[in-house]
Amino acid sequence: MLRVVVTGRIPGEALEPFRSDPAFELVTWSSDEPIPSADLLDLVRGAHAIITLLTDRVDGDVLDAAGSQLRIVSNVAVGYNNFDLAAFAERGVVATTTPGVLTDATADIALALILMVTRRLGEGERAIRSGEPWKWGMFYKLGTAIAGRQLGIVGLGAIGRATAARAHACGMTIAYTRRRGLDAECDETLGAHYVELPELLATSDVVSLHCPYSEQTHHLIDARALAAMSPSAFLVNTARGPVVDEAALVAALDAGRIAGAGLDVFEHEPMVHPGLLARENVVLLPHLGSATAETRLAMARLAAENAMAVLRGNEPLSAVSVC
Ligand code: GLV
Repeated sequence: MLRVVVTGRIPGEALEPFRSDPAFELVTWSSDEPIPSADLLDLVRGAHAIITLLTDRVDGDVLDAAGSQLRIVSNVAVGYNNFDLAAFAERGVVATTTPGVLTDATADIALALILMVTRRLGEGERAIRSGEPWKWGMFYKLGTAIAGRQLGIVGLGAIGRATAARAHACGMTIAYTRRRGLDAECDETLGAHYVELPELLATSDVVSLHCPYSEQTHHLIDARALAAMSPSAFLVNTARGPVVDEAALVAALDAGRIAGAGLDVFEHEPMVHPGLLARENVVLLPHLGSATAETRLAMARLAAENAMAVLRGNEPLSAVSVC
């Protein structure tokens, strides 16, 4: 029997193919709290496939605790910075993620943050809820128009491109930077242009982060990068928290070196830097990028399909290169 371990609660329909086939034994950790690491080591013992959440750190200890029969770890997330890929490569374990199915949901949240922070929507909502007297006023809570302004996309992958398309539809011009250089299609369809990061930071009215998190992108947006931005510019992050040096961001906001920030991810999630909490020019969301019922089901299905494919001896649908 092939043992499939799921490390947290995911949409149950996605697991039906394992449940209904006697060739599989399905073991699930059915809590919404991240599994403690000692329990994770216990749970994975004997697994042939492990389906993980982005809150699970999967390193050599976890892979060894599973045992040498382990074939795949399938993340229900597009990011895979919770995987120690060198440990996967050493043990010949396949790693997979869920790209594509969460592109629109995450780009929607990036656009929502752009609009919320530039138009002071969180601030307005808080004002009403606080019971503070208000009335329409010519100069009441004026924001910043985005039409005609430049959006700088850092990391033009699928989500960056989908965010750019949404912003383009709102009248923004698009600059981008990405490891692979110019994207001719994006240039043609969105009138976008490739620039190096320093130029993107210096010229963009909104900088939106979409790069994966890795050693190379740790604190990519640090005090220097923030100082390079315009004092009227906004920073939006729907990628991973540690791409931004959060203490440097608080210092930049305190000093008025940038105009505001819209954040869906945080450096030490679920902790949020206290310096961000009281600021009116910061929008804070609790990592909702892919949080629609439809998207989470699609992610869970893709993760299950990846596991099933590998257990049946087939190629996974969306493997991460581990070498
Ligand atoms: C969400 O953050 C994901 O990586 O899927």
